[in-house]
Amino acid sequence: MTTSASELSMITGASAIRALYLQVRARTMQIVAPLEIEDYVIQTAEFMSPPRWHIGHTSWFFETVLQAHRPGYKVYSEDYLFYFNSYYEGFGARIERTKRGTKSRPTVRETVAYRNHVDEQMLAFLDSLDEQHSAETVLSLVRLGLEHEMQHQELLVYDIKHLLCDEYDAPVQPQPAPASSVKVEGMAEIEGGLFWLGYGSKDQSPKTKVQSLSNYEFAFDNEKPAHQVFLQDYALDRALVSNGDFLEFIRDQGYQNFRWWFSEGWEVVNREKWLAPLYWELHDGEWMIRDFTGLHSAASKANEPVCHVSYYEASAFAKWAGKRLPTEAEWEKAATSEPNAVEPKAFPWGDDEVDSAKANLLESGLWSVAAVGSFPAGQSAYGCHQMIGDVWEWTTSDYVPYPGFKSEFDEYNDKWFVNQKVLRGGSFATPQGHIRSTYRNFFHAHERWMISGFRCAKDA
Ligand SMILES: [Fe+2]
Repeated sequence: MTTSASELSMITGASAIRALYLQVRARTMQIVAPLEIEDYVIQTAEFMSPPRWHIGHTSWFFETVLQAHRPGYKVYSEDYLFYFNSYYEGFGARIERTKRGTKSRPTVRETVAYRNHVDEQMLAFLDSLDEQHSAETVLSLVRLGLEHEMQHQELLVYDIKHLLCDEYDAPVQPQPAPASSVKVEGMAEIEGGLFWLGYGSKDQSPKTKVQSLSNYEFAFDNEKPAHQVFLQDYALDRALVSNGDFLEFIRDQGYQNFRWWFSEGWEVVNREKWLAPLYWELHDGEWMIRDFTGLHSAASKANEPVCHVSYYEASAFAKWAGKRLPTEAEWEKAATSEPNAVEPKAFPWGDDEVDSAKANLLESGLWSVAAVGSFPAGQSAYGCHQMIGDVWEWTTSDYVPYPGFKSEFDEYNDKWFVNQKVLRGGSFATPQGHIRSTYRNFFHAHERWMISGFRCAKDA
């Protein structure tokens, strides 16, 4: 008996997804491994979620796949469906987001048992897929579930930082010494014109060839379809804005001067009494930054990218500096294009896959930003450094659907297309296999507990 090409590609797909499943599920548990039992259930702010909730919620997502597609699957617990649903109206009633830390049940032990149950069921389900008619649909849902879990791994890092910060026993690797003695400064001058924005498909853009890369085998619906936009000539900072740059803004009374701020931002500055980015502390007149490794003077980290700033703070700095933030199209063009080249690259450094020599992502194990200039091998053709990794970069672009957008999963991305800003490029907490140059992250303008920084742009 012969195996048809489509059957063969489905089997390959299933075994690749199975391997990815094991890897992603294991890493979530590695992130929470240093936690004590009490750490799992606390909610330190309305915007964060207890670690116990993340490990249950990511399992709940797969349980919805089992419910819909595995014949005869029985729900593990109706109570868990209520507690671990995040925001999906379509999946029924759920606990309010702000109340996730008000319950001690299910316990951590029960949540881990639920997780193990879902894993057993999912692996058996994946192994039986060749007998199913809906294998392709299921495999793409499982891939979505794994990308979803990688998003939650990053959220876990944010939330554990908010919960414990330097009390968390992070398995920190030594920082790479910047391999380049060249200072990264100045702005790249980039020519305008028509640009293909977004994740490409065969008929829509010249981005087809990069899709053989594993990070490009998948894209969220919000990155599609690729479409042409027109850009004016512009300039973009070659380096991320650093703590040293930001200290100058603070010392110049940036947080006390309304003229740099949007009205909404100025209200937040005054209401929340912001004087510096989140995790900055004033000790005897000196600004200090607390991170996973301890408390450090901001001056000693002057050459590291500033992080934990809101869109308001990034915009205020840019105005103070006589610049502006880039649009997401300006960011993506600087990351993927070469001067006068037609064909865009998958990543700033070209079409090679992501690795720790090119970008500071979760697998690098730094648990921190790296100094500006640490990854010369990762720079773009225009000489912009650290576009992938280190910090998510704020853009001025509103998070709205691209023209021609089609939702591929209800309530996942489509219902958030209002009142949020796009961030690009991933952070030191983003898994390597999860990032693309076309990836659109999004947060509200006031949020800053995520790993967010920026670089500035200017009109030519
Ligand atoms: Fe989620």
